Amino acid sequence: MSQLNSRRRYKPGTSTRSRVIVEQRQLKGSDIIAVRAVLEQHVVDGLTGEPVEDEIEGILACMCNMPDEFGRKRKYFLAKQADNDLIVGLMSYANAQHEIAEHCKTLATESAELLNAFVCRTVQRIGVGQQLFQHVCEAASHEGKKWLLVVSGPRYSQSWGFYDAACDAFMGYMVNAYGDDVHAKTWRKSLS
Ligand SMILES: CC(C)(COP(=O)(O)OP(=O)(O)OC[C@H]1O[C@@H](n2cnc3c(N)ncnc32)[C@H](O)[C@@H]1OP(=O)(O)O)[C@@H](O)C(=O)NCCC(=O)NCCS
Repeated sequence: MSQLNSRRRYKPGTSTRSRVIVEQRQLKGSDIIAVRAVLEQHVVDGLTGEPVEDEIEGILACMCNMPDEFGRKRKYFLAKQADNDLIVGLMSYANAQHEIAEHCKTLATESAELLNAFVCRTVQRIGVGQQLFQHVCEAASHEGKKWLLVVSGPRYSQSWGFYDAACDAFMGYMVNAYGDDVHAKTWRKSLS
């Protein structure tokens, strides 16, 4: 068990620190406003800070079971507050790309890739991400995957501490993963 998984997480008592329920499902019409609000906090242009609308639309389409740019169907988990059903986070996974599996020294057929990990700013650092991550790991493991792989670029450098805690091993940088001189950090977690 990782260091992260062994900790006590929830601090119930206030509206922002109440317990969350995690569900695996596609996007429903009634989710869109809350999910879009979470995405608009995080899927932003590095220079302007403005939401990147085409990326947000792409994620929303994947959440409706459309294939992503690599032809993969992603499985999504949504975290909603137990007391008011408000969606405060999401996380997904899909079959790992060959290039990423090769970089992380795993077989692509045995590997899932974590995608779209976002928790609303108002409820970060109280265990929502950890709970979503555990659901992703369990679901991928049930599919027979042996590894969960994570690739994260500099736009999301604030999340790197989460992956350091949640994963077993830092697997180095994928050089120029997101363009010239824009490198991604990678991690690997065993699902066995
Ligand atoms: C990354 C993210 C999903 C984590 O969700 P979260 O609910 O805040 O994480 P948790 O509360 O479950 O954190 C669990 C542990 O991870 C580590 N951790 C989480 N965020 C961290 C951070 N910013 N810096 C260092 N460690 C961090 C800590 O060990 C934490 O335990 P602690 O709070 O007891 O110290 C969330 O912070 C987020 O949405 N970030 C912005 C978007 C983003 O960067 N997404 C990643 C795209 S690749």
